Amino acid sequence: MTTAQTTSTPTSTHRRALVAYEKRTPESRRLFRQAGEVIAGSVSRSTLAFEPYPFYGAVAAGARVTDVDGNPYLDLVNNYTSLAHGHGHGPTASAAARELTRSTGSGTANPREALYAEQLRDRLPSMQRLRFTTSGSEATGFAVRAARAHTGRTRVLKFEGGFHGSHNELHRDVASREPLPTGTAIPSRPAAGGMEPSETVTAVYNDPTSVRTAFERWGTQIAAVIVEPFLGNASLVTADRPFLDQIFASASEAGALVVFDEVQSLRAGYRGAQGMWGYAPDLTAIGKIMGGGFALAAYGGRADIFDVFSPGPQQLVQTGTFTATPLALAAGQAAMAALDETAYDDLAARTDRLRDGLRRAARDAGIPVHVNGLGSMFDIAFSTRPVDSYRAHYTADADLLAEVRLHMVNAGVLIMPRGTGCLSTAVTDEDVDEAIAAFTAALNLSTGG
Ligand SMILES: Cc1ncc(COP(=O)(O)O)c(C=O)c1O
Repeated sequence: MTTAQTTSTPTSTHRRALVAYEKRTPESRRLFRQAGEVIAGSVSRSTLAFEPYPFYGAVAAGARVTDVDGNPYLDLVNNYTSLAHGHGHGPTASAAARELTRSTGSGTANPREALYAEQLRDRLPSMQRLRFTTSGSEATGFAVRAARAHTGRTRVLKFEGGFHGSHNELHRDVASREPLPTGTAIPSRPAAGGMEPSETVTAVYNDPTSVRTAFERWGTQIAAVIVEPFLGNASLVTADRPFLDQIFASASEAGALVVFDEVQSLRAGYRGAQGMWGYAPDLTAIGKIMGGGFALAAYGGRADIFDVFSPGPQQLVQTGTFTATPLALAAGQAAMAALDETAYDDLAARTDRLRDGLRRAARDAGIPVHVNGLGSMFDIAFSTRPVDSYRAHYTADADLLAEVRLHMVNAGVLIMPRGTGCLSTAVTDEDVDEAIAAFTAALNLSTGG
């Protein structure tokens, strides 16, 4: 994951926001410094670290989180989009508590696994067979492995800015400021764990020509092309139809598989982005909301691809001590059962209202903004041009975003440092009004008003 990078020294209004933040979060500052003595970087999850230091959550309920200094916040982060119902959702919590009294996982097969798999397949019929994992990173990693085993090829095509998890295979070209030429075999970053030769090649998101070029160069070697329906890490730039159509056409011609990474976009619609737009990828990775707040994800797709798991000398093996724990399955099942089509429609309508309100507030303040988003997701980018490509995302004003976001945090409204947020079913219309008011006030403070 990336966080918004600021490029210059803070303005006077930004400095005031930093002072206010430090004043209201002394206990968090103390805990962060203390943690640095034992945890490298003070937090194990790099995403959570932001300037000057992250605040520490103490308790959470519904749409609200309270920090260790007692400050309450409206939570529009929802553990980085993974909580569909906010915190302590009744049916999810009851299902998890019930399961805990039965078993914390006994190393035996669990009937819930197939039941939940059926529930998921009913929503995403392209997942004819599926397997659970503990994280979205594992799900995309195993989807790629299955594609390789099935095709007997090694290369994977991904798109610049695409985030598919923190494993070495795909955590490449996620936040490059300088574009790599289409078809480049993306070098390992030392930070990604070594200098082994790369089998991952890159192309440009939303650019059908770039897709064709990459396939012309590598077509016979490409096992899979993996794509997010929207760039979760980059202003929620959304895939357009000519781009997706080209991916399916090039992959089909070359004998490569198409993998949709719906780890985040399962939130976009009841049947994911694929159902909303009418695509049937060969393989799909899902995660986040499907765990009901617990560590659970899955990958699935065409039944014949999953023959690679059949016993035999070439059998692909997937193991994992904490894969599909009864607790995570029970919580996930309950959370997704409560997220029916009406709940998706309500979430989308409420988020539309928020997106409109944010645009109106920026227009009234005379600040150019582009608010992207699909379903229950929204993203704020301060830009004079439409943010419809990964490169356009980099033209947005990251300094202003960092400042506005900090003013909003000080006002008790949480969005991600990269300007993205999402609604849970716990968010009310009044909460949406509160978020719009906090954004309006933040813009005023940023312009010295
Ligand atoms: C699109 C996408 N794929 C994969 C992942 C990795 O999931 P996890 O963090 O569960 O490993 C994420 C996480 O943010 C994601 O947004």
